[in-house]
Amino acid sequence: MIPERVTLVEVGPRDGLQNEAQLIPTAQKIELVQRLQAAGCREIEATSFVSPKWVPQMADNAAVMAGIARQPGVRWSVLTPNLQGLEAALAARVDEVVVFAAATEAFSRRNINCSIEESLERFAPVVQAAHAEGVKVRGAISCALGCPYQGTVSADEVERVVVGMKGIGVDHCGIADTIGTGTPRAAQAVMERALRHYSLAEVSGHFHDTYGQALANILACLELGIARFDASVAGLGGCPYAKGASGNVATEDVVFMLHGMGIATGIDLDALVDTAAFISGVLGRAPVARVSRARLARRGSGVPA
Ligand code: HMG
Ligand code: MG
Repeated sequence: MIPERVTLVEVGPRDGLQNEAQLIPTAQKIELVQRLQAAGCREIEATSFVSPKWVPQMADNAAVMAGIARQPGVRWSVLTPNLQGLEAALAARVDEVVVFAAATEAFSRRNINCSIEESLERFAPVVQAAHAEGVKVRGAISCALGCPYQGTVSADEVERVVVGMKGIGVDHCGIADTIGTGTPRAAQAVMERALRHYSLAEVSGHFHDTYGQALANILACLELGIARFDASVAGLGGCPYAKGASGNVATEDVVFMLHGMGIATGIDLDALVDTAAFISGVLGRAPVARVSRARLARRGSGVPA
């Protein structure tokens, strides 16, 4: 069942940077994205078209998209919580948009200021309008393995939202462990619910690494044949509406594991480590990614990295 090739969706510029308190200059965000595409990332979630009142860090979304020298073969996705966001995203010529719901009412209210049902009603015209322009729609379901407000989340609760997403025509189902409390068997159980409604090619995992479970969860998903995961360079990130949630699994750590297993990603690990060093320099701290820390520590030491 384990796939020979995995697609990684690089979410560092969005999920990573949205959580930074210090405003990062647009030019640095663009440089990050350019480096990611040069490193071989072929799916990049570059920014989000959300309300700047809610997430000020993403307010330069249009400028970021306009400033990227896009390489052929790279697909660009952005978050769009409503039609206003979608219209701006279409004007920025994106390939894919992401509508994001939650498995729990409490998180839905905190993150997008509406109930789960209202969010699906709001997404329906977004899906229609995106499809009319030939733009694919990915759905993300937050708190699929635990919620900072509700606590435990059942697979039934997640499946209800999967069904809702399918019902409004969302093309792809992303299962997100927002607070990183999921463990491998639980991750498989939730993925199996998603796979009742979406094909293997249209299910992906988005694992925050807060409790150090993300790589194990990815391995558990690989065992089910899932071949698409979100990851964040340098382990950047979190969600401003999930306090204490740390970054997504670091792309370097996932690439190292996959390449070690003989699974292709198309990503150049050294270039990715350089990119992690670059953005960590901008942020003034070391990368969270263990692989980058190890590689950077060994470089120039004479010890093979
Ligand atoms: P609201 O306040 O209920 O919406 O927010 P509203 O329609 O009343 O709009 C309020 C103001 O925002 C208005 O401006 C709108 O024009 C403006 P005003 O009239 O006051 O000047 N506005 C917008 N501006 C630009 N672009 C837009 C937009 N929409 C409204 N698209 C809303 C509802 C959904 C807009 C808000 O709650 C929001 O933007 N939430 C986004 C929160 C967010 O981005 N969270 C992080 C991303 S999700 C995540 O990280 C999870 C994920 O990684 C998976 C996982 O790990 O779980 C994906
Ligand atoms: Mg996230």
